[in-house]
Amino acid sequence: MCGISAYIGKENNAAEIVFNMLSRLEYRGYDSAGVAYVKEGNDKISVVKDIGMVENVREQYISEHSDLCIGHTRWATHGEPSKINAHPHLDCKQELAIVHNGIIENYLALKKMLEDEGHKFVSATDSEVIAHLIEKFYNKDDVLTLEDAVRQAIALLRGSYGIAVISSKEEKIVAARLGSPIIVGIGKDKDEYFVSSDTNALLPYTNSTIPLNDGEIAILTKNDCRITNKDAIPVQKKIEKILYDLQSAEKDGYAHYMLKEIFEQPRVINETMRGRLKVEEGLAKLGGVRMKDEEIRNISRIIFIACGTSLHAGMLGKYLMEEIARIPTEVEYASEFKYKFPVLDKNTLVIAISQSGETADTIASLREARERGANTLGIVNVVGSTIAREAKKGVYIYAGPEIGVASTKAFTAQITALYLLSLYFGRIRNTISGFALREIVEEFARIPEKVQKILDNANVIKDVADKFYNYRDFLYLGRGYNFPIVLEGALKLKEISYIHAEGYPAGEMKHGPIAMIDENFPTMVILVKDNVYNKLMNNVEEIKARHGRIVAITTEGDGDVKKILKEHDEVIYIPKTLPIFYPFLTVVPLQLFAYFCALKLGRNVDKPRNLAKSVTVE
Ligand code: M6R
Repeated sequence: MCGISAYIGKENNAAEIVFNMLSRLEYRGYDSAGVAYVKEGNDKISVVKDIGMVENVREQYISEHSDLCIGHTRWATHGEPSKINAHPHLDCKQELAIVHNGIIENYLALKKMLEDEGHKFVSATDSEVIAHLIEKFYNKDDVLTLEDAVRQAIALLRGSYGIAVISSKEEKIVAARLGSPIIVGIGKDKDEYFVSSDTNALLPYTNSTIPLNDGEIAILTKNDCRITNKDAIPVQKKIEKILYDLQSAEKDGYAHYMLKEIFEQPRVINETMRGRLKVEEGLAKLGGVRMKDEEIRNISRIIFIACGTSLHAGMLGKYLMEEIARIPTEVEYASEFKYKFPVLDKNTLVIAISQSGETADTIASLREARERGANTLGIVNVVGSTIAREAKKGVYIYAGPEIGVASTKAFTAQITALYLLSLYFGRIRNTISGFALREIVEEFARIPEKVQKILDNANVIKDVADKFYNYRDFLYLGRGYNFPIVLEGALKLKEISYIHAEGYPAGEMKHGPIAMIDENFPTMVILVKDNVYNKLMNNVEEIKARHGRIVAITTEGDGDVKKILKEHDEVIYIPKTLPIFYPFLTVVPLQLFAYFCALKLGRNVDKPRNLAKSVTVE
């Protein structure tokens, strides 16, 4: 994880620009932050860094003229969060500074080698070896330039990196990537250049970008940008435009990004559907999939690979693919898939789901799938991200920038894409009748307004949260399409409120979890009118018989649920829809419940402790 940023160009407040960019990258980690720059008329590197968030560190910076700066916001992997472990890191002579996102897996061996050669290390990080390695090669016999030294140094690194490097002797930034994102931003008049871990930090300055591929190196001066491969051969790159604007990445008056993103969901579902759900024709179509009908018919198996919230979207995708398109489907934790020697062939479609497109576990598994001959498809939010570029086929979800660490709108956009994909495959494979398809498509188009109705009544959910936020533990029960939703709801509660919550398929309750039920262990249950409604009613009866408190999410007009609940229980009503579409309507109250509990507990909702938005290390 970690976020890196850099600036070189016509402005002489480079450090301020870099601090601004860092605060937009803080969702990637916020254990410590720092900048390194070369003061105008000076040949020394100045560093300001400390434990804590970007704003804390910025307060220690006294404005100085500089047109060259690199910066970092950290999510600690090697070495505790501390000032000494904060980036940037320097070489022994303090002539070089580096910032790094990723993990250097062979850092112990490199450190030993460098220490034997006389280098002095000050931090416990893996990253510091990069500074000393570059130093080892830099200006050796006064021949090598910074870019040559970087090239030689990175050839020895194992693991992943996105780095930006400066020297007090040359007016340039050298950036390189392997496995961790690096985006170069190009100033309007080509007289300033930026480096960032994502496009969001570039938005206030430019929307022209060049994302680096693995193995590429960018050499930036005030008025030039050169990209080469690892052997110094120039690489011609296309300039890519950022597709969203600054406003869509701001809070728009909401107290938190997470709340804004929850409220954006009706619009986001519409965006993901746009041009793909053909209501008049009663069908769904997905251009980006670029698969011939024959190829779709030949799919023998689908495997979803993903992490966290995206994995829960994949779990729902399994239910959809099997019911609608009748394709045997598996869901795998991306962190497990790569290491279990998966059996794959060309008729297996491996679908990687990722908001960021940069999750290291998912990337590693996607590469494994490709190497083993599977067909691959990415369902991704961030345009131009690694997964979007490396999957053979792709579907963008168009959720816009998601800044809150807890994923919300990306989830609803991901599942929207999965409904579309299942309907598309189902039609081509003839597994769904035209009549059923039309009914589904028509109801699908009504989902955004039903989600809006829930959001309009968010206060009801706030009142429920106010009564339940003090519990230490929760059980979340759902079945069928709502089983992945309770996993997602429980994850949201854990992430941002730090309340322990366990999602369970309701039928399993009697096989173990029921032992935990008493008056101090409440249950959130999804109890909508579908084919397992009566079974869930039995679960509620069983919980009540053991004095457990209940929060039930049920459909408007259902009078039966209330009859078996007691005065300390709560009901949240959602609009009616087809059973298949309830996930859209049941996940939203769970997101809001987690948000309001976290708020009541005074948690940092957008930046919960120990987490980072984009997990770019395996
Ligand atoms: O960017 P990705 O969708 O690949 O991220 C996967 C997970 O890291 C992510 O969903 C994480 O679990 C979120 N914090 C969930 O809210």
